[in-house]
Amino acid sequence: MANIKISKGWEIPENQVTPESVYINRRKFIKELGIAGAGALSLFGTNACAQDSRVAKQLEPYRAQILDVKKNEEFTVKRKQTDEIIAATYNNFYEFTSSKSTVWRRVEKFKTRPWEIEISGLVEKPMTLDVDDLIKQMPLEERIYRFRCVETWAMVVPWIGFPMKALLDKVQPKSDAKYVRMTTFMDPDVATQQNNFRLPWPYVEGLTLAEAMNDLTLLVVGIYGHILPPQHGAPIRLIVPWKYGFKSIKSIVSIELTDKKPRNFWNVILPREYGFEANVNPNVPHPRWSQASEWMIPTRGKKYPTQIYNGYGEFVAHLY
Ligand code: MTE
Repeated sequence: MANIKISKGWEIPENQVTPESVYINRRKFIKELGIAGAGALSLFGTNACAQDSRVAKQLEPYRAQILDVKKNEEFTVKRKQTDEIIAATYNNFYEFTSSKSTVWRRVEKFKTRPWEIEISGLVEKPMTLDVDDLIKQMPLEERIYRFRCVETWAMVVPWIGFPMKALLDKVQPKSDAKYVRMTTFMDPDVATQQNNFRLPWPYVEGLTLAEAMNDLTLLVVGIYGHILPPQHGAPIRLIVPWKYGFKSIKSIVSIELTDKKPRNFWNVILPREYGFEANVNPNVPHPRWSQASEWMIPTRGKKYPTQIYNGYGEFVAHLY
């Protein structure tokens, strides 16, 4: 059980802003401007620092809402944790833009509270819950997971959430329920890419019921010790670390239990490239690139071998 604790700005842990992020964002800023060379670096250094402090300012109200929960030591990762500012400025959230480095700015008008989530379909006890009431009821914990995007970038971040199983146990799936279908909000005035009628909005994702009930499957409401900022899919999103990142749907408004396999967003757009299962697998290349290796944001140059099920085989291999 956990409540959101409102902290003062000065209580932000020091380790959330590292010198590395200053350095990296400076490089990113210069690259975005298309300017290279040492002269340019010194010329634009001040602006890069300004960009970092703008991101920190954007994160401030979320960092102030601390989720004081225990870390689950069963889920530790050997690789270095990704810096918070890096993770918060390299996002996929196509409702707002396809440009990863600008999502954090485009979500400015996105209101993530109050927020309701409906759980319906083949369940004994359908319900609609306010997200903060849900947070108070659920067994929150912190888990450090590896996260792997189908585009080959990866990160290691501390998520805060609860096993999806805890919510499903509450609504009691009926015996004919086989899949879980999740849907993101729809608000084209704020999420302007939803005005693009060629894309099948709203974003939908799905899991088998067995996948949804697996202990690794988290409904996430926080990151780096505080509530989720909008660019990471506030106020509630899915994290399934053994699958490619597009399965981890953001800003969920409905969870429906069904007996039909859901058509997920990317599968509708490009069925030959993105399947339903989408388990991380170095031996199955994407039709346009290899999946044999990955790189940790923001250092594109250094490659690591991709692990089957993203290293989580002991938890999920039996499902397939
Ligand atoms: N959920 C919604 N609603 N819209 C999206 O565009 N992108 C997916 C996933 N969930 C996406 C989404 C993809 S492709 C990835 S890699 C992850 O979110 C990125 O999560 P992050 O920005 O928190 O790193």
